[in-house]
Amino acid sequence: MAFIEINGGKQLSGEVNIQGSKNAVLPILAATVLINGIIKLNHCPKILDVFHMIKILEAIGCNASWEKHTLIIDTTKLNTSTVPEEYVRLMRSSIIMMGALLGRTHSVTITYPGGCTIGARPIDFHLSAFQDMNVSLEEEDGLIKCTTTGIVGNEISLKFPSVGATENIILAAVLATGKTSIINAAKEPEITELCKFLNTAGAEITGAGTEKIEINGVEYLHPIEYTACSDRIVAGTYLAAVAGAGGEAVLTGIGAGSLQMVVTLLREMGCNIISGEEYIIISSLGRLKPISLIRTMPYPGFPTDMQSQIMSVLMTATGTSRIIEEIFEGRYQNVKEQIKFGADIQIEGRTAVINGVSNLTGCEVFASELRGGAALVIAGLMARGKTTLHNPYFIERGYEDICRDLRKLGADIKLVT
Ligand code: UD1
Repeated sequence: MAFIEINGGKQLSGEVNIQGSKNAVLPILAATVLINGIIKLNHCPKILDVFHMIKILEAIGCNASWEKHTLIIDTTKLNTSTVPEEYVRLMRSSIIMMGALLGRTHSVTITYPGGCTIGARPIDFHLSAFQDMNVSLEEEDGLIKCTTTGIVGNEISLKFPSVGATENIILAAVLATGKTSIINAAKEPEITELCKFLNTAGAEITGAGTEKIEINGVEYLHPIEYTACSDRIVAGTYLAAVAGAGGEAVLTGIGAGSLQMVVTLLREMGCNIISGEEYIIISSLGRLKPISLIRTMPYPGFPTDMQSQIMSVLMTATGTSRIIEEIFEGRYQNVKEQIKFGADIQIEGRTAVINGVSNLTGCEVFASELRGGAALVIAGLMARGKTTLHNPYFIERGYEDICRDLRKLGADIKLVT
């Protein structure tokens, strides 16, 4: 079985270009089925979740091929609206196919996604929104069958600004009859990116990035070529790696715009960060200061997807920090691995108390989810000596090649297969 080996305790230094965004590209790939033709997606990351999404597209009759980092999707031969169960189990975000398939074929059959390691992750907002848009639902033996005589726009108010529900509603609404308004919509940059993609193809969506998104249904979307934005969470992970291990690095292909909360926090801890449109430079010298309270929130708040990585950095801060995880209750299961490095972390409900220790020691750890796995890589870089990280598969779901990228920053890290 493959594992990652890290010889930690060394400062980082170098330059790395940031890959395309996982959370932008997944809904965009779902959106391609709304277009009958050939779509070219540039700057598409070669990560497991994208490979799984390609398998889903192929299973419903589409064709996919790569030209370097351009993914070419041909949706002309789409022939079914049933998403195979094995892929829904592999990747929970495959439920994003629901809105898109409803839009293209007026029906979708998909397995009910179970819980996942970071939390329960229900899809009640998605389903009730579809019902409000003239979609009938039937649930039987863990399967959800949705059909419609035609999607009809409506005003949909979300109880919580769910990213996936906002995306699914947008996808269902683009080819609907009439106007759909989403109130309390998610404001994540990946939503804006999905709307930009759809508008480039002929959709009429306004308000992306605000809490009210309006979609005027159109009859047809046309084939396009599009370049995906860079991944803010991958960039945030590498900033955290440099912050924790010390040193200086340049990230290219991304500015700090979508990372404001992470950058503000790292500055508060004592890092020096400057940025332009397409670069971020970070330097971190000496032990960092603790943060009295970090609360994960929907965008533009502090992202839950950066919580574990920042926790690793805080493990050697000069005092006590607190984190409250408001989005996914299961994220703290990674803490039992972080503690193996010698960290002092206490969990009570949704609160984590991190008492900074003066140094960490390399050890053997097991990744059990994507961002938690990345946090263990960061801890391994910060720790003295050798760390062996098992289950790198989880990290490969979202990072194209974390070892390659961190080696560009001077880290002693390799994937052993
Ligand atoms: C997306 C991101 C994930 C990120 C998360 C929050 C993708 C592929 N994944 O996940 O990386 O961590 O946003 O920024 O883009 N909820 C309900 N009912 C629903 C839907 C959600 O109760 O129908 C709850 C969830 O349990 C959770 C919260 O809403 O507590 C946020 O979930 P949501 O924003 O939907 O996250 P995802 O779209 O699954």
